[in-house]
Amino acid sequence: MKLLGILGLAALAACRPPASPPTPNILNFETHPYEVRTLSYEGQIFRVRAYEDIIYVSNPIDTVHQRMNIYIPIAYFEGGSIDRFTAESAPIFFPNQVGGYMPALPGRLQEKADKASPMGARTDAMLMALSKGYVVASPGARGRTSVQGKAPAVIVDLKAAVRYLRYNDASMPGNAERIISNGTSAGGAVSALLGATGDSPDYAPYLRALGAAEASDAIFAASAYCPITNLENADMAYEWQFRNVADYKKIDISMLDYKVERKEVAGRLSEEQQRVSADLAALFPDYLNGLDLSLPNGEKLSLSQEGEGNFKDLVKQYVLASARRAQSEGMDMGRYMFLRMEGQDIADLDFEAYVAYMGRQKTPPAFDALDLSSGENQLFGDSLSDAKHFTTYSPRHSASQDQQADPAIVQLMNPLHFIGRQGVNTARHWRIRHGSKDKDTGLAISVILATALNNCGYKVDFALPWDKPHSGDYDLNELFEWMQQAVEQ
Ligand code: DHB
Repeated sequence: MKLLGILGLAALAACRPPASPPTPNILNFETHPYEVRTLSYEGQIFRVRAYEDIIYVSNPIDTVHQRMNIYIPIAYFEGGSIDRFTAESAPIFFPNQVGGYMPALPGRLQEKADKASPMGARTDAMLMALSKGYVVASPGARGRTSVQGKAPAVIVDLKAAVRYLRYNDASMPGNAERIISNGTSAGGAVSALLGATGDSPDYAPYLRALGAAEASDAIFAASAYCPITNLENADMAYEWQFRNVADYKKIDISMLDYKVERKEVAGRLSEEQQRVSADLAALFPDYLNGLDLSLPNGEKLSLSQEGEGNFKDLVKQYVLASARRAQSEGMDMGRYMFLRMEGQDIADLDFEAYVAYMGRQKTPPAFDALDLSSGENQLFGDSLSDAKHFTTYSPRHSASQDQQADPAIVQLMNPLHFIGRQGVNTARHWRIRHGSKDKDTGLAISVILATALNNCGYKVDFALPWDKPHSGDYDLNELFEWMQQAVEQ
């Protein structure tokens, strides 16, 4: 039967004009060229196959940024294993290089790890991952400075890259059921967003338009350092924390050769800015109370109209836990005057004194600038207006109140709208770090994210590492321990 069938087909084919060759499926990993590279990490030398500049969608609109670099330990093509991982089981480490919501190139590993490269320490995490037997897939993504890169482009791109990995799971070493995302700052925000929004239908039209692979975009675990997230509520959270601090050291963020440059400018809030700060601080309790968050014992988290209450206590407890940990690691905590010591024990924290010690970095509103000058304003722009408002407060106090982003698009950038939602496959494992001296966004933002995830039953490892400023990837050993544990559970 079978033979006849084949012969019949051959006969038919012979009478036809030659068919044009089938369209190559650019989403096929198998056909992508690679190079073998020798890499070293802390004295360990290993070889990988480097598959670079993979365009991860069928209809790219920005072929510079909609690319991914994939690195795979050679051992997995030779039937080998590394530690406990094999070609079938190795998790896929998925670090994005997004900073400042700017366009991001995929992370790239050179033959000799070049520490002076624009990626700096970020490539260290990739090298470490490979040395431990992880497959590494680092996606680029569009960013706010181009018309095509406005929200929600960055998250759509990361989802498309995840779909590419899942679509090619059978033909590629690494287990696409074990994708672990990592990012810092805006990159931390999109890592969290990726973790929260797996398979949400809300992104489907955007993914379809790009010709993203037909596959799931859910991930296994998300790591986020200082996520600049929950943007439409971040102004209120910032002023709830910093309302009593009038002096600031503002950081102007610019970008040179994909390196985010930060320049400090000192000043004091004007009376008008102090009024804005008070307005925003007064709005935060209602927002927080409406979230319906609770402590592990079921007690509801709340704040009084003055901004006091058990939510503030929770934030303090995280800072205290961090201080106690630093002390247990040998740090002399006596010099931090905002800590109340009882003998050698850290007994309490004067929250206002601690916040004064941190210092204010942003002027109110910290994110939705009244003059539309912030990076986040630009993120929510569109083809007609480069920058827009995205909160309810700012347009009402700005000369450009008609410049408001579509609330549906603002939602697509906020993980909180997806956690616990039916039909969404949120990552099971989470690691969130926000330095105790990081003032790029309010501490409440990370505490809310961690608590919302916790309340929905996800596994969350959350801490405020002592005295760390705005940064990421500073504790790679611990990051990889967490990944290892997540995979083993
Ligand atoms: C980043 C920092 C910010 O303060 C901000 O508002 C947005 C992004 C960043 O470092 O990525």
